[in-house]
Amino acid sequence: MSQPTIESILKEKRLFQPGAEFSQNAHIKSLDEYQRLYEKAAADPPKFWAELAEKELHWFKKWDTVLDWQPPNAKWFVGGQTNIAYNCLDRHLTTWRKNKAALIWEGEPGDSRTLTYAQLHREVCQMANVFKQLGVKKGDRIGIYMPMIPEAAIAMLACARIGAPHTVVFGGFSAEALKDRLVDAEAKLVITADGGWRKDAIVPLKEQVDKALEHGVPSVDNVLVVQRTGQNTHMEPGRDHWWHDLQANASGECPAEPMESEDMLFILYTSGTTGKPKGVVHTTAGYNLYTHITTQWTFDLKDTDVYWCTADVGWITGHSYIVYGPLSNGATTVMYEGAPRSSNPGCFWDVVEKYGVTIFYTAPTAIRAFIKMGEHHPKARNLSSLRILGTVGEPINPEAWVWYHRVIGKERCPIVDTWWQTETGGFMITPIPGAIPTKPGSATLPFPGIIADVVDLDGNPVGENQGGYLAIKHPWPSMMRTVYGDPDRFRRTYWEHIPPKDGQYFYFAGDGARRDETGYFWVMGRVDDVISVSGHRLGTMEIESALVSHPAVAEAAVVGKPDELRGEAIVAFVSVEEGYDAGDELDKLLKQHVVSEIGALARPAEIRFTDDLPKTRSGKIMRRLLRNLAAGQEIAGDTSTLQDRSVLDKLRSGA
Ligand code: WT7
Repeated sequence: MSQPTIESILKEKRLFQPGAEFSQNAHIKSLDEYQRLYEKAAADPPKFWAELAEKELHWFKKWDTVLDWQPPNAKWFVGGQTNIAYNCLDRHLTTWRKNKAALIWEGEPGDSRTLTYAQLHREVCQMANVFKQLGVKKGDRIGIYMPMIPEAAIAMLACARIGAPHTVVFGGFSAEALKDRLVDAEAKLVITADGGWRKDAIVPLKEQVDKALEHGVPSVDNVLVVQRTGQNTHMEPGRDHWWHDLQANASGECPAEPMESEDMLFILYTSGTTGKPKGVVHTTAGYNLYTHITTQWTFDLKDTDVYWCTADVGWITGHSYIVYGPLSNGATTVMYEGAPRSSNPGCFWDVVEKYGVTIFYTAPTAIRAFIKMGEHHPKARNLSSLRILGTVGEPINPEAWVWYHRVIGKERCPIVDTWWQTETGGFMITPIPGAIPTKPGSATLPFPGIIADVVDLDGNPVGENQGGYLAIKHPWPSMMRTVYGDPDRFRRTYWEHIPPKDGQYFYFAGDGARRDETGYFWVMGRVDDVISVSGHRLGTMEIESALVSHPAVAEAAVVGKPDELRGEAIVAFVSVEEGYDAGDELDKLLKQHVVSEIGALARPAEIRFTDDLPKTRSGKIMRRLLRNLAAGQEIAGDTSTLQDRSVLDKLRSGA
């Protein structure tokens, strides 16, 4: 068989469809079936979702109203009562799945652990009882700052079980960033570990928690610490407790609290264009249903599958597609602590081989890292168990797609390119394998029940292959409900960017896109000041604020520049205050400052010192010009609104 070249795939707009046998056994068996399903759902979305809710979830009490839509506020399954931890655990215990592996965990040093549904249920109940013992009540927020260990999932499910919304903060965020999030959420309890393993070193998480709390988080009265790495760890008497100590005396029974459909399930912070990160609020029933059904159809999930999503639980991907979606379906979900690293370039493929992973879901940035490490690593492992591959986080570049398809998927496995966001809760535009043929680089078609379009700023659909804004035109069950504590920001950011007209509201995703002649969506990337570094979303404003909080910085402007490995790299243009030397030392200092304000993921790749920044006459920094400069491109487009043209010449000459 000849290898597909990027050129041939793109030129022929080659469609990929797995063999007939795959489709025959799939949940959705043909394009025709997808289309019928899509049309049925579009004709009456609430009816479509109600039927699925009835069939797929356990309810303590059935809802009265499927959808109450008072734009921009949607309420789903109003009057109903359910519990996502019950749906993820208890209901499987009365079936053969009781002793099925729910969670298979592999630590970076090579230690491992498997929890069956019965075992996971027991540990979740124990922790739910521990939380109660620590004074946590329904509605109280709990901060989770953990490595990728089973206890992270156990903590989340225990929160859900008693109705205490969690806010998981990615372990790569700094103490300062953690503090901001704990303060905003007014967390009562923080759950962490002494440390976690990352790239052969210990990340001292508890130390960061101590720092965050020193800076003042008055709402926190207890810290629960998992012993993971075993190094010497300070424990504040009266405040800090070892997880294993409290677990030892906790009962393994704790009934799941019946939750109202719209009770808050979690807050997850994400970067936006302006100001501090927003607390994206998700609620119980709609989120449960949507992550459940998207996991089932998009990954064509079967009971025989071993499913592995490589994300961190600190991101929405980990919430929806490591923990809630797979467990709600009674699947076996794999959790891996390690990251791709030079000391073990085959680590991912070892996990696939060891557990016989059948569905593998990762990000383009990881694929690019593996391309760089060489294909002999995956080739030396047995990857024949794989049947579906997935990608998420940024548009996948053709090189990465072809490599993934050829080297990992052996030209046999469909690749589901899933477009979605923290705000959407679950997959919005995605292939359904076996039914929707794929084109490399396209997320293909909307999930049934999702009314998506590419429009201009007046809400008018743009023509075929014309660029525009990706918008969603009907509420869906797992849509974010609000920005925590700031409903106004929610309305402005997402629902007024494209003004509503004639009662039609447009959810503005912040992405540019086009639709091709077959209706397929091609997502082009952010149209706002959000940049994506290794698939991690960062607001340019956030990094600028971090920079100007340093006394040496007068002004800062941050842009992304194309980066082969990370997608985008951060370039900061900085003017310094009088009395400071713009040089290597300050360069280092400022990079370190950003790391301690936000985290290593926000470290600028490059700082360019400059006397002045290019601004419009009204004083707005012209980031477009800076983007051109950072990428080493010619300055494109209009520069007539520039206040002082000499600024540009100086920047160009590097003066
Ligand atoms: C942004 C959302 C959703 C989990 C990971 C990121 C970009 C995400 C794709 C894709 C092209 C994608 C978008 C989106 N994005 N998936 N398949 N193709 N772009 O979640 O941090 O909320 O970021 O990631 O720009 O708006 P997030």
